[in-house]
Amino acid sequence: MSSRENEPLYGGKQSGRVTIRDIAAAKARGEKWPMLTAYDALTAAIFDETGIPVLLVGDSAGNVVFGYDTTVPVTVDDLIPLTAAVVRGTKRAMVVADLPFGSYQGSPAEALRTAARFMKEAGAQAVKLEGGMRVAHQVEELVAAGVPVMAHLGLTPQSVHAFGGFRVQGRGEDGEKLLHDAKALEAAGAFSVVLEGIPSALGSRITEALHIPTIGIGAGPDCDAQVLVWQDMAGLSPRSPKFAKRYADIGAILRAAATEYAADVASGAFPTEEYSYR
Ligand code: KIV
Repeated sequence: MSSRENEPLYGGKQSGRVTIRDIAAAKARGEKWPMLTAYDALTAAIFDETGIPVLLVGDSAGNVVFGYDTTVPVTVDDLIPLTAAVVRGTKRAMVVADLPFGSYQGSPAEALRTAARFMKEAGAQAVKLEGGMRVAHQVEELVAAGVPVMAHLGLTPQSVHAFGGFRVQGRGEDGEKLLHDAKALEAAGAFSVVLEGIPSALGSRITEALHIPTIGIGAGPDCDAQVLVWQDMAGLSPRSPKFAKRYADIGAILRAAATEYAADVASGAFPTEEYSYR
């Protein structure tokens, strides 16, 4: 292992971007690491400076940026400018772009066309797609073409209508199917797999069974990494799921700032000379 691969993934000082080799090395060391979503350059820069090693430009942008109820309406053209902004705002983090619903399921060739757009037009270093065995050929095609692929299993939001709502997946016998899917995605060449909305015991079982890292979101404490939508983590989302711990109340801070600003404008207290040109 090179010295670079011995550096911690979270906050390590390496020059250049985090790569799939660094991520594999972290699994070998047993290091747990954090991942966050990002959708714009300024926020991404803050997370990058903090040392978050992987930033996901999620199709959760559908909810937290574009105001939809689900991720289903999100398009490739919606996500490309957001991904390009996150790449421009960062120096170290690996930037992973989500392939939106309907942009990869049709065929491996369609998946490659979409992934190539994210890499060429936005500068993403990897892509993420949802699904198990059903998309294993897509994963193979992408990996063969040189595209690092993050897989995503469990409560995959693009399938919300097929699930009949946002419901925990993999309970009872369905757990075996998810384990089977996870192994198939690893065999197809995925470098990691997001596990969303599944029982902790299943998250633990899949993590033990795989050589690639699992990234949990509502999948219990034993996954190799954890991911949260940053607006849920920082308290900007009005509602957030049970699994999303709030580490700040950015919503309250913004409300207070906007209220004070409005009151200053109304009373004439802003702008003073200090904020004016001569
Ligand atoms: O779209 C997204 O943000 C995601 C993560 C929550 C895993 O898929």
